[in-house]
Amino acid sequence: MRALLATGDAATTGVTDLDESALDGAVLVDVTHSSINYKDGLAIGGRPGVIRDWPKVPGIDLVGTVAEDAAGWSAGERVLVNGWGLGESRHGGLAERARVEPHMLTRIPAGLTDVQAAAVGTAGYTAALGVLALQDAGMRLDGADILVTGAGGGVGSIAVQLLARAGAEVTALTGRVEQLEPWLRSLGAVAVEPRSSLGEAGRPLQSARWDAVADAVGGTILANALAQLRPGGHATACGLTAGAELPATVLPFILRGITLHGVHSVEQPAAQRERAWSMLEAKLDLAALDEATEVVGLEGAVDAAERILASSIRGRVVVDVRG
Ligand SMILES: NC(=O)c1ccc[n+]([C@@H]2O[C@H](COP(=O)([O-])OP(=O)(O)OC[C@H]3O[C@@H](n4cnc5c(N)ncnc54)[C@H](OP(=O)(O)O)[C@@H]3O)[C@@H](O)[C@H]2O)c1
Repeated sequence: MRALLATGDAATTGVTDLDESALDGAVLVDVTHSSINYKDGLAIGGRPGVIRDWPKVPGIDLVGTVAEDAAGWSAGERVLVNGWGLGESRHGGLAERARVEPHMLTRIPAGLTDVQAAAVGTAGYTAALGVLALQDAGMRLDGADILVTGAGGGVGSIAVQLLARAGAEVTALTGRVEQLEPWLRSLGAVAVEPRSSLGEAGRPLQSARWDAVADAVGGTILANALAQLRPGGHATACGLTAGAELPATVLPFILRGITLHGVHSVEQPAAQRERAWSMLEAKLDLAALDEATEVVGLEGAVDAAERILASSIRGRVVVDVRG
């Protein structure tokens, strides 16, 4: 089968013929699509932190059909996998076939095509988990002032859409205001602010502006956003493109009673995945998703990986692994 093999060295990482005997797992899947997430950029680029045991097929997402009856799954069922170590500790979605364990599979919602399911991918599913965290905390999203950071990326752009469609007044924070403002407004943002407005270390308690923050970047930006939460406000944290450190104080926690929710997508149980995917099927504007999706062939995945690390992708890149 054709597969992208990441070797740990960008110079030797590329498309190759891989024997299917390299795969391990009870269920064989004919993969149609994968996608490029930030983690895939790191893995394909040979950066540390994602793949430890090289070489591996990268791709933390896969979309396809079950190839043969196995472990309660039937041949022909449309399925997806997000996370579970795919493209990290086991061969991932950037190949024509994959083997996974039965608990890793999620049925693709009927309203989504394979390309749309891959375009949502881990990024969109994580954005939905963040929205569920706010709702489960008892937040009323309708009319709430919500800041979304990293808004031009995969998680951020889908968070903007989901929150705006739930009635929130969304402010999108981006390092690419000139390029992305019209698009972010078309997704539902009512305001767009430059990343630099939160980029410098600020006071531990700042003027309170937000009922909630959906953060995908971490670092000083998240610390400032926490300092701008209103009393009783909520923030979700899922990413670290601005840094893994959190240079914050406890003051907004103890003087404003704010809450910070961690969002972890990789090992969520099936029920929580189904909640997230049902929300995505019901609430996403699929025309907007299609418009923000670029489809490349397997050979194009390496270039897309470089572009995601350089933050030059708008929205999502889907890989047609047979293309
Ligand atoms: N916890 C989980 O389970 C989970 C799941 C999915 C993703 N993640 C993490 O979430 C983050 C976003 O993932 P993604 O797939 O959405 O990546 P992405 O498409 O590359 O989006 C990240 C966005 O972050 C912003 N950004 C980049 N560098 C920045 C910097 N130095 N300072 C501030 N903002 C910066 C950019 O948005 P603008 O250009 O608009 O500013 C960029 O588009 C990554 O760290 C990823 O690993 C975690």
